[in-house]
Amino acid sequence: MTNATILIADDDEDIRFALNLLLSSEGYQIIEAENAKEIIIQSNRQQPDLVLLDMNFSRDTTSGQEGLAILEQLQPLNIPVILMTAWGSIELAVQGLQKGANDFIEKPWNKLKLLNSIKQQLSFSQVKEQNQGYRQLLAPESKKAWVCQSPSMQAIETLIAQIAPTDANILILGENGTGKSLLAERIHQLSLRQHAPLITVNMAAIPDSLFESELFGHQKGAFTDAKQNRIGRFQLADKGTLFFDEIGSLPLTLQPKLLRVLETGQFEILGSSQTQVADVRLISATNADLKQLVSKQAFRQDLLYRLNTLVITIPPLRERLEDIADLAISFISQFSAKYRKQTLTMSACAINKLKQHSWPGNIREFSHVIERAVLLSSTDEITAQQLLLESTDNTSDSVILQPLEQSERQLIEKAMSVTDGQVIEAAKLLDISRNALYRRLEKFAIHHDQ
Ligand SMILES: Nc1ncnc2c1ncn2[C@@H]1O[C@H](COP(=O)(O)OP(=O)(O)O)[C@@H](O)[C@H]1O
Ligand SMILES: [Mg+2]
Repeated sequence: MTNATILIADDDEDIRFALNLLLSSEGYQIIEAENAKEIIIQSNRQQPDLVLLDMNFSRDTTSGQEGLAILEQLQPLNIPVILMTAWGSIELAVQGLQKGANDFIEKPWNKLKLLNSIKQQLSFSQVKEQNQGYRQLLAPESKKAWVCQSPSMQAIETLIAQIAPTDANILILGENGTGKSLLAERIHQLSLRQHAPLITVNMAAIPDSLFESELFGHQKGAFTDAKQNRIGRFQLADKGTLFFDEIGSLPLTLQPKLLRVLETGQFEILGSSQTQVADVRLISATNADLKQLVSKQAFRQDLLYRLNTLVITIPPLRERLEDIADLAISFISQFSAKYRKQTLTMSACAINKLKQHSWPGNIREFSHVIERAVLLSSTDEITAQQLLLESTDNTSDSVILQPLEQSERQLIEKAMSVTDGQVIEAAKLLDISRNALYRRLEKFAIHHDQ
């Protein structure tokens, strides 16, 4: 690949200089980075075609663990990585390759070997890209189509055209599968920060004990398990957008930590006393009723006020039937391409059936239904019979008629058992207050810890 950009990631200036000389004389564009933070930021911003990654970034370490940690953080970017180390051992090479590196060279390098490896990796990734482009050509709508035919979605379109270019914090509300994550992506793409990274943090997926380190990063030795420096999400998203998904799952104890950085724009990397400035645009999303969480004192009101400068509520699919036909067309073309079928059509009867379903899983559920129909169809047209919709009828046979108290007791026992007896968690599942749950535990004499 001529004109390919290569990121040389090494803390040793002499090595960067030598590699830069060699590779630019071969016609490559060069970017350099000397530490972990720069590597991640440059890789996100400049999207190099290949990274040459040193394994040790502090002169006194030789374990290669730093390189492996950076490699892990580079993985989502899908950039080919060639590892370099002066202390190359087969074991480290294998570890690196297992973590997704594409090749491995030893320092001092053999020029010919190095150049060959680079050429080879670039041509592999070019083929991969061509294939992707080809697939997109076949199905132009396959990549993240955005259907917004209905009046309510049109109103959202108008709104985001106005607010995307501002730096205002945005809170996106809506049921599961209504397109909150996709909307966050669109807002970022329409914003002035579009060339900087969009970094997503799923609040429900971060263990409490790692929350600060995930968001703010840590320095080696900041706590027992902090074996390497780690770059936090605020730093990764610098000058870009930070997307907090499932913000309603953020535990109350951790909320002040987030509040502080939103209020002051400042934070510290764990283990460092130097104050950092956050330059991020914040988008958050949740399917929870945050106001209700506030009234139950499970979510801080001051934090909510920081997040909800602007609120966009995406209506559930059952309330925007005007989008159904377009969604059907879009997903049919997407899945026809995926399964290499001729693009199918859909009967009017089938469209009507789609409009009558209540779609508790919204567009995510919709896409699964269409995917199955495309897979199963043997003719050119998808008919109503081929649409396998899950019954959402609440009076289905799984509910047994019995004294109400007995049902209540069973629900409480179930909630206590799935939460391992944690009253607070069980109360959340049942959507009642802790005290209300305690009263019922007493009433039914269900064993519990205080
Ligand atoms: N307006 C839309 N047009 C087309 N596809 C959409 C739209 N909104 C959501 N989708 C698709 O539906 C699925 C669920 O969307 P997602 O953004 O993950 O929902 P949420 O974050 O609200 O759970 C994804 O595959 C997404 O691409
Ligand atoms: Mg989502």
